[in-house]
Amino acid sequence: MMATSPPIPVYQTFAALTLPSSRWRRWFPFSAPRATWTFSGRVALYHGLQTLKLPAGGTILVPSYHQGVELDTLIAAGYRLRYYRVDERLAIDLIDAERQLDRTVAALYVTHYFGFSQPTAQARAFCDAHGLRLIEDCATSLFSRDGDRWLGSVGDIAIFSLYKTLPLPHGGFLVARGEHPAGPLASAPIGSTLVQTVDLVQQTLRAAGWEGVERGITAASRRLTRLVRWNRARTIQSGGALWDSRLLGRAASRSVLGLMRLVDPARVVARRRANFMRLAARLAPCMPCPFTDLPPGVCPLFFPVMVPDKVRFQAELAERGVGSINLWNRSHPTCPPRYAADVGHWRRHCLELPIHHELDDRAVDRVAAATLAVWDRHGPHRSVRLQPDGL
Ligand SMILES: Cc1ncc(COP(=O)(O)O)c(C=O)c1O
Repeated sequence: MMATSPPIPVYQTFAALTLPSSRWRRWFPFSAPRATWTFSGRVALYHGLQTLKLPAGGTILVPSYHQGVELDTLIAAGYRLRYYRVDERLAIDLIDAERQLDRTVAALYVTHYFGFSQPTAQARAFCDAHGLRLIEDCATSLFSRDGDRWLGSVGDIAIFSLYKTLPLPHGGFLVARGEHPAGPLASAPIGSTLVQTVDLVQQTLRAAGWEGVERGITAASRRLTRLVRWNRARTIQSGGALWDSRLLGRAASRSVLGLMRLVDPARVVARRRANFMRLAARLAPCMPCPFTDLPPGVCPLFFPVMVPDKVRFQAELAERGVGSINLWNRSHPTCPPRYAADVGHWRRHCLELPIHHELDDRAVDRVAAATLAVWDRHGPHRSVRLQPDGL
């Protein structure tokens, strides 16, 4: 069955914007006293590390489940990596982290996955007991809380990747507890902001079913880039897993701050939570869903499901007009094989479905129906064990 309605994008588009307001400034992390806008999360991390004054070449303890580019950033900043376990629910294993300690270890890197909190109070106590700095990675956890505590408010630094949760062409954010982050960075190049804004316009038109207009814009922008002999690869871009040192000196453009006025954080959180719970209610009785509980305060990024063959499942969902994302399918090359094997299940089977704040109940029901249709074709007939041990 092929899709007849417009496709459901895996990330929010400009259709998720609301009426102008300055509300967002009152929300953490934007309300934090020592903070800086950057081009993206990795840039925030690189500059945040400088405020920590870790010993040169010191070791940072990093989790076995990671995207990879955050680890490239630590290496580019001159630090060594040593891995610690996360358990079958992706919670940090501080007993294993303790085993990794020696005199060279200077910091603990903790990642909050997809909006769900790690035990930050324990991580803070662990760092205080061992004289370590705590780095909170909230790249996938904007506007999330653990009860009444904001994710990112406990670490010595915390980083955010805003364009993952909000319809922005780029944008990272750094919160520092101690020293004020270094002076202002240069604004993002105009060409970069322009192409990624046009990308978002195209995604918005496609999701609204205006494919004719979208095709017209694509053709016009191709003609224009040929005319001015402009090569997209020459400018920087947010997103992607590849390390690009050209990003490092860059802040967000002013247009991103303008777009923030069209973001209503309360609505973002409420809609994402409602969509997550609606999808969980439809899917969890029928297929393996590793996170179905939504603790108070969590602002989820996606809805994860476990499927036998991620690439095929994703392609069949796309045929039914539902976007999904195959995240984090490879460990960083520096990750020892036994640590990589520990999270192999997550990397092989976890596919992320959209629950962003642009989707209404009908759209979520379409995501559910398409997912169940693909699952009925592939899931139950496979003998693959889909849930990690203990789930
Ligand atoms: C866990 C994690 N940390 C950091 C980053 C870097 O964020 P950005 O892409 O905004 O540079 C990413 C990007 O995917 C990530 O997944």
